[in-house]
Amino acid sequence: MIKLIKENKEDFLPLLLLGDEQLSSIGKYIDRSDLFALYDGGLRCVCAVTDEDGTLEIQNLATDERYQRRGYASSMLRYVFLHYKGRYDRVILGTGDVPGILAFYRSFGFEETHRVPDYFTTHYDHPIIDSGILLRDKVYLARKL
Ligand SMILES: CC(C)(COP(=O)(O)OP(=O)(O)OC[C@H]1O[C@@H](n2cnc3c(N)ncnc32)[C@H](O)[C@@H]1OP(=O)(O)O)[C@@H](O)C(=O)NCCC(=O)NCCS
Repeated sequence: MIKLIKENKEDFLPLLLLGDEQLSSIGKYIDRSDLFALYDGGLRCVCAVTDEDGTLEIQNLATDERYQRRGYASSMLRYVFLHYKGRYDRVILGTGDVPGILAFYRSFGFEETHRVPDYFTTHYDHPIIDSGILLRDKVYLARKL
């Protein structure tokens, strides 16, 4: 079951921090986000989505570490795309340069548009390690909706 969360979005911070470790970064979009939460016997996955000048942007997507690789994020993305279909032409997102995550998004048809070199080392107050990789560049991806 996937719910659109309207209130008490801060309750989802533990999972949101998995997708975006910097609290101040989450603060920039959480209030104006559509926040989706997937439950399957408990909370499993969250996705925060914003409107950026008429383009849909995935700001955060995270699955509880104990429940990854079970298809939850894929179900979430399919749901979110259906939810906005017809209202937006394009969906974009920025993520770390991590092969597993890029493979995940490429399997949904996302393609790299550009990257911001040293984004994570410059804008984050501590080193971000994802899947054993120190994040440096932010990679922007896009696909049609
Ligand atoms: C990226 C993330 C959201 C994927 O969530 P998930 O629920 O595990 O994803 P799914 O189970 O739907 O994965 C579907 C497919 O994507 C690919 N995939 C997902 N995670 C992968 C990884 N770490 N390495 C390689 N491939 C991966 C696989 O092909 C997978 O299918 P398979 O398990 O049958 O091989 C999850 O790893 C996560 O929360 N990571 C931490 C937060 C984060 O970095 N978010 C992305 C930036 S916003």
